[in-house]
Amino acid sequence: MEFHPNRNITKKKPYRICFVCLGNICRSPTAEGIFQQKVTECDLNTFFYIDSAGTSAYHVGEKANAISRRIAESHGVSLLSRARQFNSKDFYKFDLILAMDSSNYTNIMKLKSGITNSQVELMRSFDPIGSNEDVPDPYYGGINGFENVFTILMRSSEELLKQLSPYLVNE
Ligand code: 4NP
Repeated sequence: MEFHPNRNITKKKPYRICFVCLGNICRSPTAEGIFQQKVTECDLNTFFYIDSAGTSAYHVGEKANAISRRIAESHGVSLLSRARQFNSKDFYKFDLILAMDSSNYTNIMKLKSGITNSQVELMRSFDPIGSNEDVPDPYYGGINGFENVFTILMRSSEELLKQLSPYLVNE
C-alpha cells in the first residue's frame, strides 16, 4: 500500500503512532519495540512519539508477555511497555493508529466519533508480503506463533518507516 501521512513530520511536531491489539501484551508492544528500535538506529527519535494500547482492559498494567519479551530480546529489541486500554481520547493524541487485526480495527472504529485528524490503518497494510491480512493472535498458541508475529512486525515496521521517510523535514 502507498501511504500518505496527513502532514509533514518535524522535530517541533513529532509524528505520533499508536500500535493497537487486543491485550496490549503481545503484538502491539512488539510492534512498538521494533519501530522504536528502528527509529533509534536511524537517529530519528526526535521525529517520533511511539506508544501502544489494547482494545480490551484484560491486562492493564502488565508488562509485555514473557515469550514476546524473550523473542524480541533475542533479536536485540527490548519491550518496555505496560498495558493500557485504548480510548477515544487517543484519536486526538495520535496521528496514526495501527490495528494489528481486523477485529481490533472494528473495535477502534466503534470508539471514533467526531472529526479527528488521526488515520487508522491495518498494520499489515504495510507488509510487503500478505498485505491487509491480520497479525495473527499468538496468545493461545505455541512459540512459533510468537516468532511469526515478530517476523511479520519486523517486515511491516521497516516498510512503515520507509513510507514515512519522505515526509521528514528538518526545520
Ligand atoms: P495481544 O494478545 O492482543 O497480541 O496482546 C492477546 C493477549 C491476551 C488475550 C488475547 C490476545 N487474552 O484473551 O487475554
